[in-house]
Amino acid sequence: MAREFGSVGVIGLGTMGSGIAEVLARSGIAVVAVEVDAEGIERGREHLNRSTQRAVDKEKIDAQGREALLGRITWTESLADLAGVDLVIEAVPENLELKSRIFAEVDEIVGAETIICSNTSSLSVTEIGVHTKRPGKVVGMHFFNPAPVQKLVEIVRTVVTEPAVIDEVVAFAEKLGKTPVVVGDRAGFIANALLFGYLNHAVTMYEQSYASREDLDAAMRYGCNYPMGPLQLLDLIGLDTAYEILESMYRQSRNRLHAPAPLLKQMITAGLCGRKTGRGFYSYDGPDSPNVVADAESAAAAIDTATARPIQSAGVVGTGTMATGIVEVLAKSGYPVVLRARSTEKAEAARAKVRKSLDKQVSKGKLEESAAEEIIGRITPAAEFSALSQVDIVIEAVAEELPIKQEVFAELDKVAKPGAILATTTSSLPVVECAAATSRPADVIGMHFFNPAPVMKLVEVVRTIATDSDVVATVHALSEKVRKHPVHCADRAGFITNALLFPYLNDAVNMLEAHYATADDIDTAMKVGCGLPMGPFELLDVVGLDVSLAIERTLYNEFREAGYSPAPLLEHLVTAGRLGRKTGNGFRAY
Ligand SMILES: NC(=O)c1ccc[n+]([C@@H]2O[C@H](COP(=O)([O-])OP(=O)(O)OC[C@H]3O[C@@H](n4cnc5c(N)ncnc54)[C@H](O)[C@@H]3O)[C@@H](O)[C@H]2O)c1
Repeated sequence: MAREFGSVGVIGLGTMGSGIAEVLARSGIAVVAVEVDAEGIERGREHLNRSTQRAVDKEKIDAQGREALLGRITWTESLADLAGVDLVIEAVPENLELKSRIFAEVDEIVGAETIICSNTSSLSVTEIGVHTKRPGKVVGMHFFNPAPVQKLVEIVRTVVTEPAVIDEVVAFAEKLGKTPVVVGDRAGFIANALLFGYLNHAVTMYEQSYASREDLDAAMRYGCNYPMGPLQLLDLIGLDTAYEILESMYRQSRNRLHAPAPLLKQMITAGLCGRKTGRGFYSYDGPDSPNVVADAESAAAAIDTATARPIQSAGVVGTGTMATGIVEVLAKSGYPVVLRARSTEKAEAARAKVRKSLDKQVSKGKLEESAAEEIIGRITPAAEFSALSQVDIVIEAVAEELPIKQEVFAELDKVAKPGAILATTTSSLPVVECAAATSRPADVIGMHFFNPAPVMKLVEVVRTIATDSDVVATVHALSEKVRKHPVHCADRAGFITNALLFPYLNDAVNMLEAHYATADDIDTAMKVGCGLPMGPFELLDVVGLDVSLAIERTLYNEFREAGYSPAPLLEHLVTAGRLGRKTGNGFRAY
């Protein structure tokens, strides 16, 4: 019989503690909520009032249920009031000394059988536990933010935790409606160890003015379907908390990529801790509010399209997945498109691929047959570069090999009319290398679509050191015309999305290789804890291990960052021909 935890103590009712108290009280558990002072109690109470009111507004609970929920919580400034509880969850700031002291005190107060949990994100549960006389009953119970919403709970087992205690805490988490994953005591556990390197990297990009905060966030939302961008997420987590998590991860890993970006410290010192203080990377309409308001930075990031060159027609070079996807996008938005391939047959076949894609939409009732006819009618297949001589923009989407692309750009340079824009949809090669193959580098730009182009909303607009501003404005305006979301960045390996995504995927492979967790647990942690649409191993198998390895090598060669060097396991799988779904075998068998 699983042990009943009828009454539970929560220490620290901040961002996490108040969410945890809500989860507990919602499950009918009596909660003893301990804050440091009256002000802390007031803040915690307010947080819970607002959060439960939102739940009422969204009709997740009714007013009566809300009253009952709030009625189950007793507020106190004294740890002594925890004397009768069955389990304690500590959620005070991420500071080892503070947590250790609280554990030592609580140990003296609660009954001998009481389990004491820490919600620490990165500190050693073992180190916290040794300050009690019951290290066997000390466990990490790491909830995710916002606790009432996120289902994952990482249950952290130390070398001395009693196995029965782990079983009890797992059963308890399940009873709360959560998805527990049991992990060992390592800084960052699964989810944060993989998440925070990525978040820190995004801060560094922002700090270097590589891209605006809006574009960094949009890149991950529209390029990877993440529920939130990295800077939005940091504002939610709290910059002070994020800083401490990175600090302790760095202390343990000595991985430079975990060393908190200097900007974080500056912002915290200035009181910009994120949503909780009403300002972080973004400005909010009040402390603890999720509503972003415009500030000086919002205007600065806007692109002025007044100087955009007129675009009446377009050309696409290539016949692959990306080329045909882009042709479909352009033709659907009303642009006449010249589709240039190496032979007439190939060009015709590529147009037939677009036709097939449109047929699917017609059969699903998403598109009228007459509209499909019109779209196909806008596409002109061609085998000669000269067919592109009159178009206003050419988008190149041939094989991802520099000499091939450079040859295409040299040919385009010969035939394109003056003022025509020459764009490449490369995902990893330097755009400036394509520009250098022409006599008009100012007209060359990157226009990185995502796969499948007709579905994915993101376009990364990559400006080289030579690209003219009106070319940037034109491609921005065109992207919006074809109903995409353009983001801007400089000409660096991986642009925004891949540069943020692949080091994280690589970290996941390294974690698997170190036998810290299974691929299933890692995928679950990232999906259920961080709301990502796919776990890293699912995604790697979809993208293709060879493609992923190539991108990781490009990133490593550009930045020479030790942490980016491809995981040996990934190299071995590629060598063995296990490339993911396309070969029926990758991290998983299909
Ligand atoms: N923010 C996140 O996204 C997140 C997610 C998972 C876990 N965590 C972890 O949860 C813990 C709390 O983080 P947070 O973001 O909620 O921090 P927070 O700053 O929002 O809240 C901490 C609360 O603890 C209170 N407190 C401080 N000293 C106290 C004491 N001696 N006794 C009682 N209360 C005290 C503070 O008044 C504050 O209300 C940290 O260990 C953090 O790493 C945070």
